[in-house]
Amino acid sequence: MAMLFTPFTLRGLTFPNRVAMPPMAQYMATGDGLPTYWHLVHYGARAVGRTGLLIVEVTSVDPGGRLTPRDLGLWQDEQVTSTAQMVQFLHTQGSVVAVQLGHAGRKAWGEEKGFGSTPLVSSTPEPFDEGWAVPREMDETEISHVVEAFRQATRRAMEAGYDLVEIHAAHGYLLHQFLSPLVNKRRDAYGGALTGRMRLLLEVARAVRAATPQDKPLFVRLSCTDWAEAGLTPSEIVEVARALKEEGVDLVHCSSGGAVPWAVPQPFPNYQVAFAEQVRREAGIPTCAVGLITEPSQAEEILQKGQADLVAVGRELLRNPYWPLQAARALDTEIEWPAQYLRAKPQ
Ligand SMILES: Cc1cc2nc3c(=O)[nH]c(=O)nc-3n(C[C@H](O)[C@H](O)[C@H](O)COP(=O)(O)O)c2cc1C
Repeated sequence: MAMLFTPFTLRGLTFPNRVAMPPMAQYMATGDGLPTYWHLVHYGARAVGRTGLLIVEVTSVDPGGRLTPRDLGLWQDEQVTSTAQMVQFLHTQGSVVAVQLGHAGRKAWGEEKGFGSTPLVSSTPEPFDEGWAVPREMDETEISHVVEAFRQATRRAMEAGYDLVEIHAAHGYLLHQFLSPLVNKRRDAYGGALTGRMRLLLEVARAVRAATPQDKPLFVRLSCTDWAEAGLTPSEIVEVARALKEEGVDLVHCSSGGAVPWAVPQPFPNYQVAFAEQVRREAGIPTCAVGLITEPSQAEEILQKGQADLVAVGRELLRNPYWPLQAARALDTEIEWPAQYLRAKPQ
């Protein structure tokens, strides 16, 4: 039996296997942030393909925090019903279904790009890049509103039937804009040394944990390096992971980059796996590895070596929604096929 197809339990939730689909924005929501038939078919196909954990794409906790006007949202109660219908179908296929909650901060679309009337906000009043709007530096009242928005969106996520929330603190979006010393130039309690820079993330984690039932786990996605001198380093991220664990976070999803436009890594197979391994070992918290993992034997080896507890397969699952069914066969492991497709199962 391949380890990739063994179950994994966190708190009261058992993942049927170790294959995760990482969050991948589809830009197909309605203007009100509701899922469409596209989402049902897209996530539904990966659930039919037996992906153990589907992490639904970044879903905004605030209309002004959307990356684009076609992002999903959970910023108001009216968004719960249609989300619940999608989640209900995904559960019929046995997948665990998570949602990534986020706020784009200075990387939101913004009125300067023709969307919305909300000005951009960030840790520091500096734009992401040339041609981007200058954000306003958030004051403590705005910071507390963001924490509350994460709490309320988590409550809605639970009402919609999601099994867990992943907090998006990676890729240069709002929480990463506080974490990264390349972006955060504040002199108050939310800036300076790492304890200040991670304060907002810890407050968000506390609020999300409080709105999540005790038997359900909580994930955080982090950029484990800024790929730049004077940026975040993996050893700082180990510190962040330790503090998150104290707040009741159960798993760190180890990605990288995105804080600044000029530091772009050259990806190669497993290019982020060492981060998942280091965080797992040094912070003593389960991790999910991601980034150019495409082969069944590659995913299996990551687990066998104890580098991560879950393996996320992104673009390869876009190319092939039935990757888990085929990976099980490649790894000589019997898994249950959807009954409707049994006549197509290779003998
Ligand atoms: C179309 C697309 C949309 C993405 N959207 C998100 C997102 O909503 N949130 C996020 O954290 N990462 C997002 N990512 C990054 C992926 O989750 C993943 O980390 C990345 O694709 C690397 O994994 P891969 O090499 O297996 O594709 C996106 C990637 C793609 C290709």
